[in-house]
Amino acid sequence: MAGSEPINVADYERLAERRLEPGAHGYFAGGAGAERTLRDNVAAFGRRRLRPRVLVDVSRVSTATTVLGTPVSMPLLVAPVAFQRLVDPDGEVAMARAAAAVGTAMCLSTLATSRPSEVAAGAPPGPRWFQLYCFRDRGVTRALIEEAVEHGFDAIVLTVDAPRAGRRERDLRTGFALPADVSAPAVAAAVGSEEPITVKEVFDLVDPALEWDDFAALASDCRLPIVLKGVQTAEDGRLAVDHGAAAIVVSNHGGRQLDGVPASLDLLGEVVEAVAGRREVLVDGGVRRGSDVAVALALGARAVLAGRAPLWGLAVDGERGARRVLEILRSELELALTLLGCSSPDAVTAEHVRREPIFD
Ligand code: FNR
Ligand code: LAC
Repeated sequence: MAGSEPINVADYERLAERRLEPGAHGYFAGGAGAERTLRDNVAAFGRRRLRPRVLVDVSRVSTATTVLGTPVSMPLLVAPVAFQRLVDPDGEVAMARAAAAVGTAMCLSTLATSRPSEVAAGAPPGPRWFQLYCFRDRGVTRALIEEAVEHGFDAIVLTVDAPRAGRRERDLRTGFALPADVSAPAVAAAVGSEEPITVKEVFDLVDPALEWDDFAALASDCRLPIVLKGVQTAEDGRLAVDHGAAAIVVSNHGGRQLDGVPASLDLLGEVVEAVAGRREVLVDGGVRRGSDVAVALALGARAVLAGRAPLWGLAVDGERGARRVLEILRSELELALTLLGCSSPDAVTAEHVRREPIFD
């Protein structure tokens, strides 16, 4: 690949590793503990086999779909990833521009290095969600929601798999802390200062006492739909529906929280079954190829979120790199749909993937 254009996500991943300093690279690439779940998220897609149908008219194939009723150019959205100015000076604003250019939704993290108002002002309009960590300081949390509502965000994504940070050993080895020149406005508001801070200290701001009733109260108070991110069981899928979730994201936080949980793809089936069509179910973790998206659709996902894939694009080539990664994933998905005999994401069914994973 020396000297030539990267052509897939793996190429961007390698180039990003060369470009980033070890502390930042370890933060973005790493997972918790022995990183079993981190690796398994990717490996799970390799255990699935597609079942193409032939002699289906695929002269016109579209990747376009809707998520929560919002039209998107493909069933792949940009996952919330914190502190994006660590890899690019325009950070989340550049990512939002890339997502808008490709016509898909971007989810802005609570721990973003740009405020919702800056993203709204700096990027063309597009579908946009705001990811919420509920801080112990409810005033800061309320202000965050208000800012997202005021600036036209379409949904709130409450992440519930991180009452504390997972033990990320790469960060311990590199002594990673946020550099003083990269600040997350929401964190500064919650701490009351802009001192350098570790990721563990950031999570100490998050309220670990949150329960289902708090979620239900938030869902009924909030003017926007609330998506619950971090569900990993049928039981919690049912509770999410009962407590007012507008949609569910099956996620293990990219293998960064509880090491030893299954790949999120392997949990999708039980959650989809429990939710039984009452809500849209999304999944994230390990998506590196357009064909991975096809697998997730066949297993019942409405769409996937991708975290590291577009982030590597941003790290390699800023807004252009993030856009290229999203375009690559979209065109890989379009080809996968065509060769599967599906003219749209809605045409993908459970019959398009082998039921049992293959261990070879
Ligand atoms: C994340 N993720 C995350 N999730 C969230 O709800 N809020 C956040 O601020 C972050 N921050 C964050 C930082 C970094 C460096 C990573 C890698 C991930 C989790 C993210 O939204 C998503 O669940 C995973 O990234 C999905 O896995 P892949 O696509 O990275 O394999
Ligand atoms: C992480 C955050 C911030 O995983 O969610 O590092």
